[in-house]
Amino acid sequence: MDNKFSSSWIEMRQVYDMQARSPLLFEYLDKLPTTENINLLDLYCGSGSFLVWSIKNNINYKKCVLIDYDIKLLKSIKRNIKSVIEPHLKIQSNTNNLDLLIKNNKEIISNIKIIKNDCNKYNKGYDKYQLISFSAVLDLMSKSTINNILKIAKSDCALYFSLCFNGKVKWTPSNTMDKYILSFFNNHQRSDKGFGLALGCKSIEYISKLAKSRDLSIKIKESPWQIKNHSEMDKIFLNRYILDTKKSLFHMEGIDRKILKLWYEQKKYEIDNKKISLYVGHNDILIKRK
Ligand SMILES: C[S@@+](CC[C@H](N)C(=O)[O-])C[C@H]1O[C@@H](n2cnc3c(N)ncnc32)[C@H](O)[C@@H]1O
Repeated sequence: MDNKFSSSWIEMRQVYDMQARSPLLFEYLDKLPTTENINLLDLYCGSGSFLVWSIKNNINYKKCVLIDYDIKLLKSIKRNIKSVIEPHLKIQSNTNNLDLLIKNNKEIISNIKIIKNDCNKYNKGYDKYQLISFSAVLDLMSKSTINNILKIAKSDCALYFSLCFNGKVKWTPSNTMDKYILSFFNNHQRSDKGFGLALGCKSIEYISKLAKSRDLSIKIKESPWQIKNHSEMDKIFLNRYILDTKKSLFHMEGIDRKILKLWYEQKKYEIDNKKISLYVGHNDILIKRK
């Protein structure tokens, strides 16, 4: 939620991300003549949320390279994959848990290389991949980062921007302060998150227009979080969500801290008493050369 990329937050949201991801990628893969030789590059991969979702949904890439600069998150990838693979499959790994093989007896199903590196400096070897994933990062990016990434799109290499925050947050029931808080939140998302000035939710309109102007094909689907607050886990997550929102907005210029505090306290009461649910809008976006 802020530019420190809290690992506990990234881990915590994984279960909601898993439910939210749309069928857009299945629809794309279904139309390909073969999916057996797809190599995946997952940039800013975090704890491997995108690959874990793929494996859970029986999408097995022949070779995967996952890159992030947070070693703690990278080291959790093996555990996260283990939690979703079918019981007859085994994961073989090196001592660092960064080179993984998913095996069915002796047959290698997938070869996964996890690399600690700065993705902003990654600029080589894109032609080895048929799918490049950017999960939950588009809204953190600046115009120039997006301009450069779109140059990689080819007819046999799709760019998949999943879980892109689209600026829509709806509480049910809502209150009169929600709109005020959301406008500050969406402005906060447009600060520098390590890629230059972030576009926040405006990144979706920006990338759509840019793709069309470069004659690339673009497909978009909704992938929202819909958190009903039915379980203890939902309650913990929602409480973390409002706390992080309060912390992020507290020092913003122009914010009325009394309203922020009142909003937080009201939401906390409603969450703790299971009187409220949350919708957070995201989009999945697939771009390739026609
Ligand atoms: C919002 S998280 C998304 C993580 C993951 N893709 C997911 O879907 O859960 C953003 C990730 O980008 C990583 N990150 C940000 N800037 C980076 C950079 N320059 N190089 C490598 N990783 C970076 C962070 O460590 C964090 O894991």
